[in-house]
Amino acid sequence: VPVSVYSDSNTASLAVAKRIADLIRGKQEKGEQAVLGLATGATPVKIYAELVRLHRDEGLSFKNVVTFNLDEYYPMQPDSEQSYVTFMNRNLFDHVDIERANVHIPDGTLAMEQIHDYCLAYEQKITALGGLDLQILGIGRTGHIGFNEPGSAPNSGTRLVTLDDLTRRDASRDFGGKENVPTKAITMGIGTIFKAREIILMAWTQKKAEIVKKAVEGELSSEVPATYLQLSDSVEFVMDSDAASLLT
Ligand code: F6R
Repeated sequence: VPVSVYSDSNTASLAVAKRIADLIRGKQEKGEQAVLGLATGATPVKIYAELVRLHRDEGLSFKNVVTFNLDEYYPMQPDSEQSYVTFMNRNLFDHVDIERANVHIPDGTLAMEQIHDYCLAYEQKITALGGLDLQILGIGRTGHIGFNEPGSAPNSGTRLVTLDDLTRRDASRDFGGKENVPTKAITMGIGTIFKAREIILMAWTQKKAEIVKKAVEGELSSEVPATYLQLSDSVEFVMDSDAASLLT
């Protein structure tokens, strides 16, 4: 797997933001849409900040951009403080000229019996647009990508999943206690992610060093879903030197 190690997450984030901006501009020149798969959490925050800056200062337009977020907690109201809708609005969408109709984030308000059809339609929308041009990913300490926790199948699609205990503990600060973190989420599957033409998995800080080592150098295993990325020809791991510190 190609691994790019940067001295710090700032430099790495600028490089990834530039790749996204180049993709958007390249598509614009051809009169095409850029279809982006987006992640939430701490990892992509500086990328979004740089994209906002490029929009504000350098005229980068998001008019031809369509986005699909990886996941959302379930249940979750979109206007809640902890929703991924709120996260994306605050970090990116409120500050750029994207068409709201082009933004897709899994709906945390569905009734249980609606979820199956909704997830199929989410996949079909991506396919109908020609597939994801680029998917950006963080990695959880369980080895999850999206919310594909240990046990997820490599060909899994968008679906309702149960969050791992460690994932809920890691989210507890945002929710003021683990007991307030939803037990479920709707996530794109590993199969969904795999279909993207380019995948960039990012990891920063020492906290991620152990799981990054497993993801990059470990045996393929559903116990560490990120190991499946080793099978992709389109993936790149981008990390800071702390996250890379255990790699041989
Ligand atoms: C978020 C997502 C998750 C996070 C992962 C890392 O949309 O799908 O897989 O990328 O939990 O989270 P942070 O970046 O907060 O360390």
